[in-house]
This record gives sequence, structure tokens and C-alpha cells, in this order.
Amino acid sequence: MLEFFARKTLQALPAELAHDLAIQALGSPLSIFTQVKQIQNPVKLMGITFPNPVGLAAGFDKNGDAIHGLSKQGFGFLEIGTITPKPQAGNDKPRLFRLTADEAIINRMGFNNKGIDYLVKQVKNSGYKGVLGINIGKNKITPNEKAVDDYVHCFEKARTLCDYITVNISSPNTPDLRELQNDQALVDLLTAIKTKQTELADKDGQYTPVVVKISPDQNKMQLKFMVQQITESGFDGIICTNTTIDRPSTLRSSTDIAAEMGGLSGKPLLEKANETLRLVRKFAGSDFPIIAVGGIIDKENAMEKFALGADLVQIYTGFVLKGNSLINDINKQLISENNRKA
Ligand SMILES: Cc1cc2nc3c(=O)[nH]c(=O)nc-3n(C[C@H](O)[C@H](O)[C@H](O)COP(=O)(O)O)c2cc1C
Repeated sequence: MLEFFARKTLQALPAELAHDLAIQALGSPLSIFTQVKQIQNPVKLMGITFPNPVGLAAGFDKNGDAIHGLSKQGFGFLEIGTITPKPQAGNDKPRLFRLTADEAIINRMGFNNKGIDYLVKQVKNSGYKGVLGINIGKNKITPNEKAVDDYVHCFEKARTLCDYITVNISSPNTPDLRELQNDQALVDLLTAIKTKQTELADKDGQYTPVVVKISPDQNKMQLKFMVQQITESGFDGIICTNTTIDRPSTLRSSTDIAAEMGGLSGKPLLEKANETLRLVRKFAGSDFPIIAVGGIIDKENAMEKFALGADLVQIYTGFVLKGNSLINDINKQLISENNRKA
């Protein structure tokens, strides 16, 4: 009940202010008021046991400031970041827009974050024992030819503090970042990260799985190439998908807001993200780990993703709009469907 009123109050405030206040509240003792029990519905993937398959998507807690409160919302895992080597301010404000009539958000945050050293401290201080992913990116000022260095730097700093690392090359809000999904740039990046992952694991015996987060805006050929490279170079999974730069004709929000530059998330992303998921499952084969995200606003949306071959799901916009009840709704539905099948 309290969580409901807090959410309604936040929804009346400007979007980024509401987000900042939510992060502050979740990082403080106030988070006790929104606590729910975590449903146990374990899934084993990439050698990790996830208490349940519903996670928080990257970008909500970019710096690891709210791990404590977020760990009590019922998620089976948290992904924090995107984090870059150096702190950076991100794009000018306003850069976060609600499309209320569409159950959607447009953002062009641009990896605003406090840098990897800050995040490392936050994770160490959090005492969090649950499953954690750390999502890494490159600084805006780093040219694409040097991007590999940024990813390898963050990988080295974060890998012993988490259960998996996500390589984010699909945000639409850092100029040319998505170019890293193509051709030789992709091959070079994957090779460098894989080499570092193997070298460090050989040295200290600690193997940290690495997954790649992809965009929903690629054509079939690009997607096939990307999936092939990721699977053949021994990466551990794919997160499918980030936000879209498309604006479906079905959007009902005012054209001013719908025309804002940035990535669209929430309900209007579902169809596109699902089509990408269907193709990724086809190209990657039946056993390759896939974490599906994009457009989950209710439990049925999550069930569609599992039916299309997702092993785990993540939510961002649905969590902002519906709160933590969505996490438990999805888990209860999954358990009841699995019981029915058994
Ligand atoms: C405000 C905002 C910021 C985001 N920041 C990041 C980010 O830093 N890194 C990332 O990989 N994805 C980021 N995302 C994308 C989400 O993780 C997710 O892939 C996308 O929103 C689709 O899921 P949804 O429809 O459940 O929101 C962001 C999304 C939003 C709405």
C-alpha cells in the first residue's frame, strides 16, 4: 500500500527527479517500506543459480547506489550500470520523458555515471549476497578505435565483484556506440574481452561469465552475424534487447514527446524486442543462454518471452510503472504454468 502511494507521488514529479528520489529512498533505511518476500523459483544458467528468473535491467541503478533497497524488491538478480572507466555527466537535461498513454519511456541519458571506481566501492560496501550483473560501457570521449581499452578496464575492475558482466554496445545514446556491433569492430572487441577473461581465469581460477547486450534495431543479416560472432567466440550469453530508436505508428502520446530523441522502452518495444528474441534463439540454438528484456509491463508479456526461448527476463519500465508487484506476479504465473505442465 505504502509502495503504491510512493509510486503515485513520484509519478507526479518530473521524470528524472522522481528517479533520483527513488534511488535515494531505495538506498536508505526508507526502503524497508517497500520490502517484499523473494519468491523462490530457481533457474541455473551460465553456472549461476538465480533464485528466480526475473531481474532488474541495467540503467536503473547505474552506480550501485540502491543495491540494498533493490535487493528487497523480490528480484532474482540485479544488473547495475552501465558504468564507464571515468565518471561522466551524460547528456543535457531534460533527457528522460514519460509516455504515459503508451506505458513507455524515452531516454537519452547518455551513460551519466560516477565511474567504475565509485561503483566498485558501492558494491563492496553493500554486503549484497544475491546474484549481481555489472553492465559496462565506454566513455563518450573515448573514440571507437580505443573502445576496447575501456571495456577491458571495466571488466578487470568489476569481474571479481559480480556473477556476470554485461558488455553494452547497444545504447542509442552514446554517439556511434552501436557501430561496435558491426564487422571488424565487433570481432576486435569480443576477441579482446575473451582473451582477458581467459587469461585472468587461468591466473586466479575465477571465471566470470560475460554476456553481450544487443539492440532491437538491427536487420536480420546484422543480427545473424552478431549472434554467430558471440556464440563462436565463446561468450556466455546474450541480453536481448536494449531500447529502440524506432517510433511505432501506434504511439498515442503527443507527437512532441514521441519525437524526442533517444531510446524507447516499455510496451511499444515489446513486439520489436520479441522479434529480435525469436531470431536470436533461432540463430544461437536451443541451449545458448538468453536474457530477454524489452516491453514487459504485465505477466503475460513475460510469459511470451519465455515461450520464445528466454531463460531469464529483466524489467525496467514495467518496474517503474507497476512497482515490485510485477516481479511476484510473473513468478507466480511461471510456477503455476510449470505445475500445470508437470
Ligand atoms: C532511463 C533508462 C536508462 C537506461 N539505461 C541503460 C543503461 O545504462 N545500460 C543499459 O544496458 N540499458 C539501459 N536501459 C535499457 C534497459 O536496461 C532495457 O534494456 C530497456 O529499457 C528495455 O526494457 P523495458 O522495456 O523493460 O524498459 C535504460 C532504460 C531506461 C528507460
